[in-house]
Amino acid sequence: MAYIVSKLKDFSPAVIDRAITELFAALAGERAAVRDQADAKALRDRWVGRNDGILAQVNERWLRTAPKETKREIGRRVNQLKAEVEQQVEATLKQTRAAKVDAALDISLPGIRRAIGAEHPIVRTMNEIVAVFNRLGYSSAQGPVIETDYYNFEALNFPPNHPARDTQDTLFLSHQQSKAPRERLLLRTHTSPVQVRTMEKLKPPLRILAAGKVHRNDAPDASHSPMFHQVEGLAVDRNITFGDLKGTLDHAMKELFGSEVKTSFRPSFFPFTEPSAEMFVSCFLCGGSGKRAADPCRPCKQSGWIEILGCGMVDPNVFEFVKHNGYDPETISGFAFGMGVDRIALLKYGVDDLQLFFQGDVRFLEQFR
Ligand code: PHE
Repeated sequence: MAYIVSKLKDFSPAVIDRAITELFAALAGERAAVRDQADAKALRDRWVGRNDGILAQVNERWLRTAPKETKREIGRRVNQLKAEVEQQVEATLKQTRAAKVDAALDISLPGIRRAIGAEHPIVRTMNEIVAVFNRLGYSSAQGPVIETDYYNFEALNFPPNHPARDTQDTLFLSHQQSKAPRERLLLRTHTSPVQVRTMEKLKPPLRILAAGKVHRNDAPDASHSPMFHQVEGLAVDRNITFGDLKGTLDHAMKELFGSEVKTSFRPSFFPFTEPSAEMFVSCFLCGGSGKRAADPCRPCKQSGWIEILGCGMVDPNVFEFVKHNGYDPETISGFAFGMGVDRIALLKYGVDDLQLFFQGDVRFLEQFR
């Protein structure tokens, strides 16, 4: 119940003392309930308000009615009490005023820090590769990650049911059976479909680079992931030769890994290139010796060579699919290459588990800022 100033039964010191104690207990309770400046102002009006404030009531009920012989003493106590109440009310007002300013502006607070993100090490590696080829005059091309069977396989000279499709561990989208086979959707298994998509849009000559995500049905482990990244290159013009391919890639590897690395091309097979090759660079960690100090070099399995990419001369059968846009296999030729970004990033940053790149653990990723 709200405090009211009691009428005194008598004016003995004991009764006065009790009444004053009660008054300050009430004030303390009300001050504790003050939350903001509006509360503090209400408290002030209630206690020191001129007309009917509690102090005015104290005057009325305690001082005015006091018998003559006690007036002096009561007056002294009431004056003391008034000063104390006024001081406490003022302090309460001050506190809420300060709190209000605090809430609005406290220049001593550290401010709100927004974490600034950084390039993911895979993205950074990808951008570095892209930059090398940009300087050679390659522009950037893009294609969808959800691709049709046509672009991922058929137009790249993988006929339906061709066994080379088996090497790609394809993840197909479900509920595609009602579509024509070449329309069926899948997660692209390589960036090579961007070759055909770009040749459909742009006439030769052409030099493009396509970087992005690809998927294959591989179980995740320290060196595999069902989602990984590739950078694809394609150059088409008159008289492009395998020598151009070798020269371009040898230059690019020296830019990426240092001028001392060597390149080595070994025969391979891809349906969309002929001839095809795998390209190795001399191990940039052991300098090609296969040893690091007395220890065997693990990244190159002591061979001194690291496989970086697949490449080859664009197969004339691929040009046949875009012949209508100026790609006549009789008059033009081209080379293509595709490299895995993730393994390069692993080697570059000395990370021994590919999964770390994809787990989103900030403690790991922060190290690459
Ligand atoms: N697409 C091939 C792969 O993913 C790589 C490649 C690209 C090979 C271009 C030759 C030419 O394995």
